[in-house]
Amino acid sequence: MRPMQLVALTTAALLSVGHRADAEGDAIARGGYLARIMDCAGCHMPRGADGAPVMDAGLSGGNIGFEIPGLGIFWPPNLTPSTSGLGDWTDTQIADAIRTGQRPDGRLLAPAMPWPAYAELSDEDVAALVAYLRSLPPTEAQRLEPVAASAAASAPFYRVTMPAN
Ligand code: HEC
Repeated sequence: MRPMQLVALTTAALLSVGHRADAEGDAIARGGYLARIMDCAGCHMPRGADGAPVMDAGLSGGNIGFEIPGLGIFWPPNLTPSTSGLGDWTDTQIADAIRTGQRPDGRLLAPAMPWPAYAELSDEDVAALVAYLRSLPPTEAQRLEPVAASAAASAPFYRVTMPAN
C-alpha cells in the first residue's frame, strides 16, 4: 500500500469513529432534553428535609412515594447505572419499562410512573432517553420497595384525601 492510501484510509477510519461519537453525543443531549421536559427528576430525584430537590443526588431515586388506592405505595426508584439502579438492566428492558410499564420481573409499574403517557415515545426518543440514563454517574442509594399499606411505609408519600363533606 502506498503511503497516501494509508493516510486516506486512516483518516476515513478516524472520521467514522468521530461520527459515531457525535451520534452518541447527540442521542445523550436529546435524551437529557426529553428527561427535563418529561420531568423524570420531579419524581426520581430525592428531596431534602425542606422539600427541595437535592440536585447533587441526580436521578438516584425519589424519597416521596405515591399511594395508589387499592394497589399500594410506590417510590420512584434509582435510574442511574448502579447496582441499586438500572445497572443490570438491558437497554430494551429500560425502554420497555418507560413505554409499557413492564419490569424485567414481569411486574407492571404502578401508573404513578406515567408510562401510559410515555407509550407514544418514538423508538428514537426512547433510545435517546436510555442513552442519557446510561451516561449518568452511577450512584448507589437505598431502594424503597413498594409496600401494600401505609403502616409498612418507611418514607413519606403523597396521599389523596377526600373532603369531609
Ligand atoms: C409522576 C412521577 C414520575 C415521573 C414524572 C417519572 N416517574 Fe418513573 N417511576 C415513578 C414511580 C412511582 C415508579 C415506581 C412504580 C412502581 O414501582 O410500580 C417509577 C418507575 C420507573 C422505572 C422502573 C424502575 C424500577 O427499578 O422498577 C423506570 C425505568 C422509570 N420510572 C423511568 C422514568 C423516566 C425515564 C422518567 C422521565 C422520562 C420517569 N420515570 C418519570 C414515578 C415517576
